[in-house]
Amino acid sequence: MENKKFDEIKKSLEEDLKDVEDLKVLDDLRIKYLGKKGLITELNSEIKNVPNEEKKEFGMKVNELKDQFNTFYDSVKERLDQAALNERLEKEAIDISLPSTKVPVGAPHILEKVIEEVEEVFLSMGYDVVDGPEIEEDKYNFEMLNIPKGHPARDAQDTFYIEGEEILLRSQTSPVQVRTMLKGEGKVPIRMICPGKTYRRDDDDASHSHQFMQIEGLLVDKNISLSDLKGTMDVLFKRLFGKDVETRFRPSYYQFTEPSVEVDITCVNCHGKGCNVCKHTGWVTVVGAGVVHPNVLRMSGYDPDVWSGFAFGFGAERLAMMKYDINDIRTFYNADLREAKVFDREDEE
Ligand code: DAH
Repeated sequence: MENKKFDEIKKSLEEDLKDVEDLKVLDDLRIKYLGKKGLITELNSEIKNVPNEEKKEFGMKVNELKDQFNTFYDSVKERLDQAALNERLEKEAIDISLPSTKVPVGAPHILEKVIEEVEEVFLSMGYDVVDGPEIEEDKYNFEMLNIPKGHPARDAQDTFYIEGEEILLRSQTSPVQVRTMLKGEGKVPIRMICPGKTYRRDDDDASHSHQFMQIEGLLVDKNISLSDLKGTMDVLFKRLFGKDVETRFRPSYYQFTEPSVEVDITCVNCHGKGCNVCKHTGWVTVVGAGVVHPNVLRMSGYDPDVWSGFAFGFGAERLAMMKYDINDIRTFYNADLREAKVFDREDEE
């Protein structure tokens, strides 16, 4: 009787397991045979009615059936799972030949580009590019640059004070000269430039901005003179604007340099012939500079009888305006992407 049942189940099993192509059907079969009331499960529970000497064989046969089912189940499940996965992958596949949506590409700000060019020139001459704080102490912004409290030279730089008279937004990058010398602790040579934001209480217009970019430079060594400064300025402007650009010095006055000069270059707009940009002089003033004042050296720990140096400072906007033929300084700060794009394209041509 039992053998008959075995054969029946085996037969139905073989019948059922043919051509299963659906996970749901497969699962129903699992319940039919191995569920709580499944055919194999029930057969197994009949073991209690089997005479003792047949129990072992009976058990083995039930297990055979179970194994047969499980082996089948596993292989079909794997095949169907794989097929389902393939189908999903196919459905979700991306057609890489389709044109994509255009993602706008960023570009460096033109001011940043000019600053980088200046940095490259000075790096190639062995200078370091250094940083200094924008929130500065009066001591570094003025006093140690030989501009004591109450000195009229302070008025020219209408300063944003933050706390009393001691803490301010730097009105120039020159305080970084002082900081660099103090850090240098008397060691030479010092060769540094410092590009950075500066602030003045100016009303914004085409040529003024309350915040602008200055690039400061300082060199300290032995026997440094104005002619070293002249050579350095020549290299800078020829590299920036072309070999035919000349530089000239005009006497000037700064508290922290003696002598002081203004550096002019031949107008890059008219190549020195005279135009509106250079007010028909053929020259434009681009840099303030000079030989570092002995007081400044002394206050920062450099003996002026032994060491000497030159320093300079200029506005990066000025150079960028000349380079890109911009006539309004606000162009740099109004964040108008259309303008940025125009300049970016021009640069690529
Ligand atoms: N700090 C000056 C200014 O803002 C520019 C300048 C002039 C810097 C002469 C210097 C210098 O280092 O030697 O107008």
